[in-house]
Amino acid sequence: MHVTVVGTGYVGLVSGAGLADFGLSVTCVDSDERKVQRLQDGQIPIYEIGLEEIFRRNVKNRRLTFSSDLKSAVEQSLVVFIAVGTPEGVNGEPDLSQVRSVASSLAKYMDDYKVIATKSTVPVGTGRKIRAWIEESLKKPMKFDVVSNPEFLREGSAIEDFMRPNRVVIGAESEQAAAIVKDIYRPLYLIETPFVMTNLETAELIKYASNAFLATKISFINEMANLCEKVGADIHDVSRGMGLDKRIGSKFLHPGPGFGGSCFPKDVAALCTMGRWFGNPMRIAESVLEVNQQQKARVVAMMEEGLAGLSNRTIGVWGLAFKPNTDDTRESPAINICHRLLEGKALIQVYDPVAMNNAKGELGEKGISYCADAYAAACGADGLLIGTEWNEFRNVDLQKVKSVMKTPILFDVRNIFDPAKLRTLGFRYFGMGR
Ligand SMILES: NC(=O)c1ccc[n+]([C@@H]2O[C@H](COP(=O)([O-])OP(=O)(O)OC[C@H]3O[C@@H](n4cnc5c(N)ncnc54)[C@H](O)[C@@H]3O)[C@@H](O)[C@H]2O)c1
Repeated sequence: MHVTVVGTGYVGLVSGAGLADFGLSVTCVDSDERKVQRLQDGQIPIYEIGLEEIFRRNVKNRRLTFSSDLKSAVEQSLVVFIAVGTPEGVNGEPDLSQVRSVASSLAKYMDDYKVIATKSTVPVGTGRKIRAWIEESLKKPMKFDVVSNPEFLREGSAIEDFMRPNRVVIGAESEQAAAIVKDIYRPLYLIETPFVMTNLETAELIKYASNAFLATKISFINEMANLCEKVGADIHDVSRGMGLDKRIGSKFLHPGPGFGGSCFPKDVAALCTMGRWFGNPMRIAESVLEVNQQQKARVVAMMEEGLAGLSNRTIGVWGLAFKPNTDDTRESPAINICHRLLEGKALIQVYDPVAMNNAKGELGEKGISYCADAYAAACGADGLLIGTEWNEFRNVDLQKVKSVMKTPILFDVRNIFDPAKLRTLGFRYFGMGR
């Protein structure tokens, strides 16, 4: 079977390569012609563990191709996956302009029955809108189906998540379309992946419910960490004590500077917006966002106190990506904190193993030195912030770090170090909830 994936970002590229690895013939289409050219030249524009291997394998066996010609890709395909961006628009509403533009273009090029499957995260009701947008631009009446197939991959382990998902959700308006999309995922039957077969609206909502629930766990544990600091409790023991209860689970109970990334903030905001649209306020989700905003401000206040002011302080920052194992800096808490430090007139020296280029795009050059390694970022610093918990920071030579810093003050907002050990080494240590 031939399929098209529209959008070659984190989701589109991983899905395209993954579907090709399932044995399908895949054309990945993007409107960004420079990106398509780079992909055709064999350059992978994002950092994702394991992507290069399946990318090269499937390009070589010609199951994975890249194009900016949507027309010929659509003509060859039975199924078209939409994987374009749905960034936050005004008032927390998702901006659906990319999805709408794809739908209108598809209508122009559809020549016979197609299944249009949405991987992009879109608010409830968008599947029906996609149908309407296509119908209003079709040249002649034609049968087609719209399916919601939300994507749950995590950046940093996207290939693993795509190839071995916890579940596949398929929301369809016809049995035929549901069967066609289910068939695409046939290789996953062998590993007994559960399938949730449902209607469009439910599939769309499952994605938001899942992300909002995970974000809720993070904001919840961050508030608990703040309480721990007040009462002399240790958040790590609280998390472990909670997480061992199978009804709760241990994941997403790690305190930090708040959640970020291109999904959680915008998806929780979108859920709040949907609640308002339908007269059903989502009060928990609204609080989750509020707590998340406060958490970043709290980190900066802690640093300001620890350094007795920010103005003219030199601060080393280790890690800029929104989480380890990705180069994605969208809505990264580390970047947000860097902006606030710069506003406070601090000078920052930053280092990230893979996200330096993206960070430069967001932070610019003023007040910032981009460093070649972790030690260089610590050199001469009045304080050091752990912005992202990359593994390489866990194994640094802390004696050396201390010796190169001007004053050994560590803001370990990812709690990667043992406070007692750091204090013994002579650091002033600030963690979260300990
Ligand atoms: N990034 C994640 O971890 C993740 C996980 C699950 C779901 N999602 C959702 O998947 C969707 C895509 O996310 P992403 O992070 O891959 O986005 P992205 O911004 O990395 O990529 C989007 C791509 O779509 C392309 N594009 C935009 N308009 C186009 C058009 N009209 N025709 C063809 N291509 C077009 C862009 O050039 C870009 O390459 C979003 O809705 C997001 O919420 C993302």
